[in-house]
Amino acid sequence: MDLRSDAVVLFGVTGDLVAKKLFPALYELTRRGRLDMPVIGVARSRWDHQQLLTAARKSVLEAQGRVDDEVFDALARNLTMLSGDYADPDTYQRLAEALSAAERPLFYLAIPPAVFTPVVDGLAGAGLAARGRVVVEKPFGRDLATSHELNKALRAAFDPERIFRIDHYLGKEAVEGLRVFRFANRLFEPLWNAEHIANIQVTLAEGFGTEGRAGFYDRVGATRDVLQNHMLQVVALLAMESPADAGDDAYRAEEIRALGQVEPLSPATTVRGQYAGYRDETGVAADSNTETFIATELRINSPRWAGVPFYLRTGKLMPSTATEVVVEFKTPERNLVPGADAAAPEPNLLRFRLGRHDGISLSVQVKQPGAEVTAVPVELPVDFDATLGHRREAYERLLDDALDGRHLRFAREETIEQEWRIVEPVLDLPEPVLSYPRGSWGPAEAQTLAGRWHAPTTAH
Ligand code: BG6
Repeated sequence: MDLRSDAVVLFGVTGDLVAKKLFPALYELTRRGRLDMPVIGVARSRWDHQQLLTAARKSVLEAQGRVDDEVFDALARNLTMLSGDYADPDTYQRLAEALSAAERPLFYLAIPPAVFTPVVDGLAGAGLAARGRVVVEKPFGRDLATSHELNKALRAAFDPERIFRIDHYLGKEAVEGLRVFRFANRLFEPLWNAEHIANIQVTLAEGFGTEGRAGFYDRVGATRDVLQNHMLQVVALLAMESPADAGDDAYRAEEIRALGQVEPLSPATTVRGQYAGYRDETGVAADSNTETFIATELRINSPRWAGVPFYLRTGKLMPSTATEVVVEFKTPERNLVPGADAAAPEPNLLRFRLGRHDGISLSVQVKQPGAEVTAVPVELPVDFDATLGHRREAYERLLDDALDGRHLRFAREETIEQEWRIVEPVLDLPEPVLSYPRGSWGPAEAQTLAGRWHAPTTAH
């Protein structure tokens, strides 16, 4: 294994991602004795050391509900702040001085796409790129062309083995678990095809709005924010063929091949929405046509999936927060047992809950009590927390991996390019987005896209 990095530099330390995910991840790594190294926060805002510590403590408290002083103090001893303009070479000179004792720093770019290139150039200009690793946050470009450009800029400064592209869904235990579920269970694989599956639904619903990041979000929208990356990554894991061997490269090759077989999304089977009141938020253009909701039908051109629609939907201010996959199986060929109130029994549904409260649930038909022989669905649920105990958060696992130079759970360049190819026809559509009430499942037009959407079972 490569040598572990010996310093972390967080660009965008005053931002939302660091507050929500990265401080808690650094804290957890400190607790496990995996982070005894300098952590330098970089931002344009002029924060002093105390402001940095206060922000870090607050974010740990918010994420975990309590702060262990011993762990926090150990983290705090390593934290320093460096304020500066991202376009100013002096920022990087000062950073180089601060890193003079570090041989293998890890640069984490938690910054808006518009400043990726100046930061990468700045690091290269100060001679820092040659000895460091870089973690790049999504969105990775705005489309296929800009993602190419970004890759060119990155590769001009960093060796390919030193570039880590984050799709934090790959760091989620439950998402990684799809690979185990698919290939460690004999039970489902023979049914995993067009003969037995009616459709697959992927819902990434958020019960909250833009939460203070409206300025960022308005330039991005739901398609670029989560559909292009997290949701298509999940589709790839669900749809892929079995790999040639158990090695990571073989898995990735199959994932990329599966995405390569996905047809580009069509505006005709896509509904874009915007929640009521979005345009009044600070940072949002008064005439914004940015989608805070998208529902779409995806098709995969392969014998396994011929004729099986994948329905994807995601949105802000939905009725609940949940990321769920529902695999809807076909109903029996012969209708020998009627359902309770319908002519046919309900289909079997296999649910993967991938967000908080992750787990799996399978609905099966059992006999409805009473004189009649009719079927009623019941759930066979598994809650991972209750069954498997606490598992590490995605960002903690990913940061730990990047520090060790492990690529396993990072997105490949080809994957990202395939994902852009798939979403490109529905980016920045000129048609006005459809308004939807807050707390609803999006515009009415989206309801009829799938024959029947299965609401997520996670409610929080
Ligand atoms: C991020 C998006 O990548 O993913 C956010 O930028 C979104 O807008 C988040 O809320 C969802 O991730 P998770 O892990 O909360 O499902």
